[in-house]
Amino acid sequence: MSDVKIPLAGVIGCPISHSRSPILHGYWLKKYGIAGHYVPMHVEAADFEVAVRNMHKLGFVGCNVTIPHKIRAIEIADVVTDRASMIGAANTLTFRDGKIYADNTDGYGFTASIWQGAPDWQPDAGPALVLGAGGAARAVITALLDSGVPEILLANRTRTNAEALKNDFGAKIKVIEWVQVAATLGSASTVVNTTSLGMTGGPEFKVNLDGLKPKTIVADIVYTPLRTTLLNEAEKAGCHTVDGLGMLLHQAVPGFERWFGHRPDVDDETRRVILA
Ligand code: ATR
Repeated sequence: MSDVKIPLAGVIGCPISHSRSPILHGYWLKKYGIAGHYVPMHVEAADFEVAVRNMHKLGFVGCNVTIPHKIRAIEIADVVTDRASMIGAANTLTFRDGKIYADNTDGYGFTASIWQGAPDWQPDAGPALVLGAGGAARAVITALLDSGVPEILLANRTRTNAEALKNDFGAKIKVIEWVQVAATLGSASTVVNTTSLGMTGGPEFKVNLDGLKPKTIVADIVYTPLRTTLLNEAEKAGCHTVDGLGMLLHQAVPGFERWFGHRPDVDDETRRVILA
């Protein structure tokens, strides 16, 4: 009996109920009339490997992975992209020919979001100031360096974490003290917050922003709220601002295209659907 295989994908995490990825992919599947499904999967760390290794048997063509599985995903994959290796974590897996392919699309999502939000961005115009040294910072730094940013001024609350990142990324990273951020703003052409500061319910973003130059590109990866203190202040200073929602939406594009065969648009309607 002939049977048409409907491609399945999803997101694996623990917890997973907060993830907006099922809404996003579900919206795109419907919009483009694609027969496929994208489901949230709550999988404990201890079960992750067995689950992922067997997903292709259930009809899954790939999946996103999120906390706490992003590092383990790299370890169990058969093929890992360079950018995922540099970041040390994967967010997008594809199952093909019995193999697990791991990629990290966060950096791509960041760059695509900047180009969409600030089409006049000149990556090589000067140094970028990056706040934070966690997983998101690794993705952002990879993307900035790939885009041609000549130098990254890196500030983190815990300096040793920034030093560790410099060890991995090399001479283009200059670690500065957290207390120097306010004084360094004026020398940056691009400023990116990769910390959770400013997120609803968390600690405030308290850096003095008086030193921001007009026309600086200022991006925040926080998207709740969409307009953070950093972005509001930057806008008042005449900067171009890019919110964190764009990165979230654009990072999903390569996975959707690989699994379902259609490159989805990130437009105003997509933003509205996810914010609703
Ligand atoms: P992610 O993978 O999302 O980047 P993470 O790896 O936990 O998450 O990193 C969080 C980042 O936010 C880190 O740079 C962290 O600084 P530390 O290395 O000092 O922990 C930063 N961060 C979190 N809370 C902060 C706070 N209250 N003040 C300053 N930085 C903070």
